[in-house]
Amino acid sequence: KRLVVLVSGSGTNLQALLDEIDRVGREAYGAEIVAVGADRDGVEGLARAERAGLPTFVRKVRDHASREEWDHALAEAVAAHDPDLVVSAGFMKIVGKEFLARFGGRVVNTHPALLPSFPGAHGVRDALAYGARVTGCTVHFVDDGVDTGPIIAQGVVEIRDEDDESALHERIKDVERRLLVEVVGRLARNGYRIEGRKVVIQ
Ligand code: GRF
Repeated sequence: KRLVVLVSGSGTNLQALLDEIDRVGREAYGAEIVAVGADRDGVEGLARAERAGLPTFVRKVRDHASREEWDHALAEAVAAHDPDLVVSAGFMKIVGKEFLARFGGRVVNTHPALLPSFPGAHGVRDALAYGARVTGCTVHFVDDGVDTGPIIAQGVVEIRDEDDESALHERIKDVERRLLVEVVGRLARNGYRIEGRKVVIQ
């Protein structure tokens, strides 16, 4: 299976996928990353892709006359690599109608909170501020909402009294990386069905 990964930042989730595919081989893993895209230049996630010898692309919202035109350009850039699955790993933009029409049901996102709690761009900070005792990460299919698609898997992380946002986020990312690697591999190897809000992996 062909994966296109979308990043906006450090790309440690991307790196976890790259490392696992290197470790077990793409046949055993069931997938290979064929390209990495970003919504901005100069992020570490793109450098990781380049170090791995992968094609990269950048589509910035501000380079396009409208959000819809950006969404079209992003969809075109992704489609050029003919993906079976698109993995949004720390991609900080909400994809639009065209992107979902073309890749809906095949876009997996990872979110650093236990959805439906704490959706949006500050899930780690919001859980901490709320005084939650546990939080975690969620791997889900992307639908037309924000972090609202069918949940595939979740991992729980305890919140400690001494935690600040970055310490907690690092602990979440340790769980998140393992969960994403495991889920993407299973989706790629076994195939899956989405039945309403339920995801059935064969
Ligand atoms: C991840 O925790 C992701 O869930 C969140 O931002 C982080 C991205 O980390 N949206 P990285 O870029 O994969 O290191």
